[in-house]
Amino acid sequence: MSKLWGGRFELETDVEVEKFSASMNIDRRLWSVDIKASMAHARMLGEQAIISPADAAQLIAGLNSLHEDLTTGRLELDSTAEDIHSDIEKKLAEKLGPVAGKLHTARSRNDQVATDSRLYLRGEVLSLIEEIKALQEYFLASAKIHTQTVLPGFTHLQHAQPVSLAHHLLAYFWMLQRDRERLEQSLPRINSLPLGSAALAGTGFNLDRQAVAAELGFDKVTENSLDAVSDRDFVVEFLSNGSLIMMHLSRLSEELILWSTPEFAFVQLGDEVTTGSSIMPQKKNPDVAELIRGRVGRLYGSLMGALTMLKGLPLSYNRDLQEDKVFLFDGLDTVRASVRLMLIMLEKATWKAESMAKSLRGDFSNATDLADDLVTKGLPFRQAHEVIGKIVNHCIKTGLPLEDITLPALKGFSPLFDEKSLGLLPHVAVMKARTSEGGTAPSAVLAQIAKAELALG
Ligand code: ARG
Repeated sequence: MSKLWGGRFELETDVEVEKFSASMNIDRRLWSVDIKASMAHARMLGEQAIISPADAAQLIAGLNSLHEDLTTGRLELDSTAEDIHSDIEKKLAEKLGPVAGKLHTARSRNDQVATDSRLYLRGEVLSLIEEIKALQEYFLASAKIHTQTVLPGFTHLQHAQPVSLAHHLLAYFWMLQRDRERLEQSLPRINSLPLGSAALAGTGFNLDRQAVAAELGFDKVTENSLDAVSDRDFVVEFLSNGSLIMMHLSRLSEELILWSTPEFAFVQLGDEVTTGSSIMPQKKNPDVAELIRGRVGRLYGSLMGALTMLKGLPLSYNRDLQEDKVFLFDGLDTVRASVRLMLIMLEKATWKAESMAKSLRGDFSNATDLADDLVTKGLPFRQAHEVIGKIVNHCIKTGLPLEDITLPALKGFSPLFDEKSLGLLPHVAVMKARTSEGGTAPSAVLAQIAKAELALG
């Protein structure tokens, strides 16, 4: 195709070079924001009398109709174009003739690509925020149902102390809350308009960059034209935020994978979200969770890729920067799909309260409370720890669940035990006793739920 920059060249570009340098198949998704940014630019050029009002009106009408054509499929993007900006300009020229050439007054593709990327990312981040919110709503709603459902809380993947399922699920709510806050806090840094940098140094044309920013919904214009065309911090920041989201989802995935094994059986995943085996008829595999866990590597890889691509780049624009979209778009798609699929998977999951309760039996996760009992009766914690250790050892040797021990047996280890001590042993009681702020007792979890509701807004 004809180039935007062919004039000074005598020979055709080598076909391999064309293929190597084209970005059309990566940046084609920017078509809509590219047209919108062009409309704002054209309107400003007209209002500032840089081009005539009639020319501006023609450009805007042409861009509008081009947007319509591409939306309805009347026109298709040209996969052989150098990039999306070239293709849009060429299509506009086919519609309008030479006047289309006035659109590129006082702008460069360097400004365009930075502007388009920011506009596109802004829309994606806003949608992602909503999808994360939907996932948080799942956790909040499930927590309300499960404040009394008890399961082992783990440290080192060993039974530690019983917690409620509500408490466990809300842990993910707060991870996602931080993720959402980070995305929200990144918006002002994304939402700064580079258009008008005119490749690198600004322009002598009397631009009104503020007007363009206002039309496109940017909070401000970039302060420095050199920085504006070479800054991709917003890409790195998104990929960093996305990496944290994926890391959180992968931890949750790991628990779903583990918990859906027959050894745990704390959760049953739905048929709709699991897959079978071509050889083993009994299999039901948690592939979605595994894929989410596996795709974290793509985010980390993209983050490293973007940081490495930027390292050591001199000012201002360099073609290296074109690679940013490979990382950004793959990162965006991966995070959005993973958040969405996680919600679908959870909505089809059944929490197995009975198995959770069964797994607590004889697990000694009630031992701490028996030690605390002696402490409240005046024994130093070190000695209490020792006494309970001996009781646990005795129970292990005789195959006796701690919650089934009798008072005379307890008294054999310490005269300080009394009737009340036995009441401390049921796992539900242990969970309910953890009433400190941020703890697992239903009273504390209800307060936590109130905070979560406030956080969701
Ligand atoms: N496709 C390019 C990119 O994504 C657009 C800017 C090209 N500018 C240039 N001077 N070659 O970065």
